[in-house]
Amino acid sequence: MNVGIIGSGGREHAICYMLNKSKKVSKIFCFPGNAGTGLIAENVNLDLDNFSELEKLCTEKEIELLVVGPEKPLVNGIVDHFKGKSIKIFGPDKISSKLEGSKIFTKKICQENNIPTSKFKIFEDLKGTVNYLNECNFPLVVKADGLASGKGVYICKNFDDAKIASEEIFNGKFGSAKQILIEEFLEGEEMSYFIVTDGINYKFFGSAQDHKRVGEGDTGKNTGGMGCYSPSRLLSKDLELKIKTKIIEPTLNAINKSGGVYKGFLYVGLMIKNDEPFLIEFNVRMGDPECQTILPTLNTDLMDIFLSCCDGTLNLTNINFSRTKSVCIVLCSKGYPVEFENNIEIKDLEKLKLLKNQNIFHAGTLKTKNGFISNGGRVLNFVSTSDDFLKCRDETINLIKKLNWKNGYFRRDIGYKVIKI
Ligand code: AMP
Ligand code: GLY
Repeated sequence: MNVGIIGSGGREHAICYMLNKSKKVSKIFCFPGNAGTGLIAENVNLDLDNFSELEKLCTEKEIELLVVGPEKPLVNGIVDHFKGKSIKIFGPDKISSKLEGSKIFTKKICQENNIPTSKFKIFEDLKGTVNYLNECNFPLVVKADGLASGKGVYICKNFDDAKIASEEIFNGKFGSAKQILIEEFLEGEEMSYFIVTDGINYKFFGSAQDHKRVGEGDTGKNTGGMGCYSPSRLLSKDLELKIKTKIIEPTLNAINKSGGVYKGFLYVGLMIKNDEPFLIEFNVRMGDPECQTILPTLNTDLMDIFLSCCDGTLNLTNINFSRTKSVCIVLCSKGYPVEFENNIEIKDLEKLKLLKNQNIFHAGTLKTKNGFISNGGRVLNFVSTSDDFLKCRDETINLIKKLNWKNGYFRRDIGYKVIKI
């Protein structure tokens, strides 16, 4: 079967790599992909907002399954476009995708279903927001409602920070904003928990902890993710039961009741405090770099998982992960996430010798006739799996050192909470 993958990051390269191993997959097309996917699939550049154009291309290339990596097309209703057509599509529909597309939609589901999350208030204008902020204790969190490429969240230490954040949001920094969310600041340790669902049943799809800050010791600016380790050190049977019964099941039931059809990955972003889970956010896709970290530990054919989700038969598919640990370190362009240069040569990338427990997943890369060049802030994902987190990290760093990319920067402390040295 021919498959199309939408997206261009490390997550999509990891998905492409796993599908390429499946006997059920004939040819893979990536829309638009990156230099890494270009080595095993055909990259096609097209306007991803134009679903009809995409459909036409799928028909032409005999693509029978589309897998959607990032949230934007999902929130824009790509799955609804293909409803009732012969091309299967893996991802939640437009109603379900509001779980990521509108933080206020999610908070209301939490409120109506007693799902543990931070206390919150919604405001519709700056004046009302500022009046409320005058009465608040700090820190607190100010959030833009809609998609903001991970940037619409402000952790505010005092009134002035919160006022500036509210002004920026209402002034349209993240698109026209009719509403704003003010949240209580949750203390604890963050964890990401993943499931995959066919709209009826759901199954565990790994846990992870990522490092979002650019600097070692989790300092400095927020990024798309500097690295990640899996499994999370926090996960226990007891905690998992609470996550499922208090958060996931009521949410999936609420989505069903509201007429949504959720077939796809669900990323549950949690704060864990005293072994109790609190929902921070949902994402309607796999995480990046969590996906690159988790997929190399998957023993089940990923194509079987996608197809059984599309067909509503996930209960018949066993999903097995190896019990190994996994560490992913992101190699960025120097200066990311503020200012960085593109089009810098990455010499000898194809000559790097990987151990059999290692992968390199491309993100911001391009292939020219002379070799690979950088084309983004997060450039390459280096992953190692083994039975020990320290070994994973050491082997990953050794590989990055071998590449010795002069324009690169990476954090050497990924996984420091599970690696005591
Ligand atoms: P979000 O985009 O909602 O995941 O927020 C981005 C990051 O902000 C999260 O990963 C947390 O580190 C932090 N964050 C968001 N909401 C809260 C909260 N209510 N309390 C503490 N930290 C938060
Ligand atoms: N790693 C965070 C995200 O994918 O949103």
